[in-house]
Amino acid sequence: MSESTRRTTTVDGVPGSHLRVDGAPGPTKPRVTVIGLGRMGTPIAVAFLNAGYSVTVWNRTAERAEPLVARGAVVAATVADAVAASRLVIAPLLDHEAVRQALAPAVTALRGRTLVNLANTTPDQARELAAWAVGHGADHLDGAMMALPQTVATPSGFFLYSGSPDAFAAFRPELEVMAPAHYFGADPGAAEIHDLAVLGTGYAALAGFLHAAALLDSVGTGPDVFAPLAARWLHGMADFLPELAREAGSGAYAEGVSTVDLNRAAVSNLVDLSSTQGIAADVHAPLKALLDRRAADGHGQDSFSSLFELLRVRGSAAG
Ligand SMILES: NC(=O)c1ccc[n+]([C@@H]2O[C@H](COP(=O)([O-])OP(=O)(O)OC[C@H]3O[C@@H](n4cnc5c(N)ncnc54)[C@H](OP(=O)(O)O)[C@@H]3O)[C@@H](O)[C@H]2O)c1
Repeated sequence: MSESTRRTTTVDGVPGSHLRVDGAPGPTKPRVTVIGLGRMGTPIAVAFLNAGYSVTVWNRTAERAEPLVARGAVVAATVADAVAASRLVIAPLLDHEAVRQALAPAVTALRGRTLVNLANTTPDQARELAAWAVGHGADHLDGAMMALPQTVATPSGFFLYSGSPDAFAAFRPELEVMAPAHYFGADPGAAEIHDLAVLGTGYAALAGFLHAAALLDSVGTGPDVFAPLAARWLHGMADFLPELAREAGSGAYAEGVSTVDLNRAAVSNLVDLSSTQGIAADVHAPLKALLDRRAADGHGQDSFSSLFELLRVRGSAAG
């Protein structure tokens, strides 16, 4: 990047009252800083620019900022300048280690800022980072991005947050620029826990799809033919979730439309067919074991949702 295109920013402490680098009055929207311009950070910075925000960016590999400068972003010369530039500092970096390394030279500038960590971390790493940020005088939110680069700032993506309730309330309009924002309380680790829960739901479905694709491949139906059929079924399953949630939440399993016995027969057939076709039954064998256990406990006529009773930590929820 040439020096003529690289501009540093002035400090902007108060939303709506900052000056642009040239000293002219800025727009009413607060300046936002984005640290980390990878696959996620770049569309996030673009989303803020498109929404009319003044955006300061910083990236370890400076060249990655150039397309954003062309769209109106200001590149900070140092990460400390980037943090100092805005009250809201969004960090979609690679991982926990990257966040700590990237921000280490900016600890002094963190005071009075709100740091939104969007790197995928463990819940404990999120808590550690929050304590570190608070220790340096910053407010902290941990965010988990349930999105792909191309679904940032579209109705398909959504982000999960936890940490400072004041920060979430204060910057909610800015957070909503990136994706619909869902807040899960003051524990900084909560967003990552909910992230894993959502991912876990998807992984189980995707593993089921791949198993089924292998099964059908063994009878000559290709995955591309099967995919639309599976997608159609999954849409129906998604519509079924509120009913499962209602039953699991209340512990009322007697009226369910789909019983343990009924599903046990289907899953048993699936495992047997897999074995006949020479397909690994690894995906559904654990489900069959749970259904067998529930039936052996005398709950064969309960709803499928009653597997919740075998999976949850007893006594931790509704009783
Ligand atoms: N990509 C997705 O589809 C997706 C979806 C949801 C969530 N996520 C999560 O979002 C986060 C970012 O993912 P991404 O796909 O944007 O990753 P990426 O394209 O690999 O970008 C990583 C960013 O982190 C920076 N970085 C890495 N190590 C660093 C260090 N030690 N010091 C300073 N900067 C460092 C990189 O800088 P350089 O340019 O200098 O390398 C780059 O800006 C990850 O936690 C990922 O799990 C990703």
